[in-house]
Amino acid sequence: MLSEWIERWFTTCPPFLEEMGLLREMLGIRKRWQQYRDAWEPHCRRSRQVVLDAAARCPRRRRAVILGSGWLHDVPLPELVSLFDEVTLVDLFHPRLTREAVKSLPNVRLVGADVTRTLEGVHRAARTRNCPLPSAMPNLFLGEEIDLVVSLNLLSQLPCMSEWFLRKARSHDEPTIAAFARGLIESHLAYLQKFPGVVALVSDVALERVGADGQITPAGGTLYGCEMPFRGESWEWDLVPAGPGRRGERLRVIGVVDIRA
Ligand SMILES: C[S@@+](CC[C@H](N)C(=O)[O-])C[C@H]1O[C@@H](n2cnc3c(N)ncnc32)[C@H](O)[C@@H]1O
Repeated sequence: MLSEWIERWFTTCPPFLEEMGLLREMLGIRKRWQQYRDAWEPHCRRSRQVVLDAAARCPRRRRAVILGSGWLHDVPLPELVSLFDEVTLVDLFHPRLTREAVKSLPNVRLVGADVTRTLEGVHRAARTRNCPLPSAMPNLFLGEEIDLVVSLNLLSQLPCMSEWFLRKARSHDEPTIAAFARGLIESHLAYLQKFPGVVALVSDVALERVGADGQITPAGGTLYGCEMPFRGESWEWDLVPAGPGRRGERLRVIGVVDIRA
């Protein structure tokens, strides 16, 4: 509780993102990680391995960009800083713990940015009558010299809070929100393909509910109706492990070492 309060106090989050629930979401990830750390570790370890396998494929190692770095649970940071001249960590904003963790690492750069470039537009559209939702045209870092890009447990998260915020505002109808959410996923997948170097992707693709008796019920895809166009290894992430008297939630995750392979 105290650590959450400290993080909330010392994490600088733009007010409109806080209003859209993104600070709460970021703190929620840490809270769940603390609660279910052992259950999350196999997923975090496999995610880190995908990043390292992707790094091993890079013929040059000038700059690596990690999209969705968050609390670094799934980022093999010590290895990346020794492999690459520069490691750029990208998230909407960086929690205090992450800023502390990189303080003594001169080749780590923190970038606070919305990779979809839509969140400000969504915030505005939710408050203005008949305002169309923005088109996602992600372009961050395109044209820069980057040898490795990783989209790390980010893809399915891109529409979540916009969807929640728009529903709460009752500003747009359901088909409009659904089309917007799908567009965010599609444009992120297209964006990744524009980078010339090695591009890796780790993302959940489906949710399963696990009964207290261990019975598994599929609960649908997590990519808003989009297909994962790349092949990779697959594993389960026990997001909420089932326990006595507690139903669980499990995500199916795909780890793609190189989207062009
Ligand atoms: C499930 S977490 C990924 C796990 C994270 N690597 C960690 O260890 O905490 C998803 C991350 O994506 C970030 N995110 C969500 N939407 C984003 C956006 N539009 N631009 C940049 N980052 C975003 C969230 O802030 C969050 O840190």
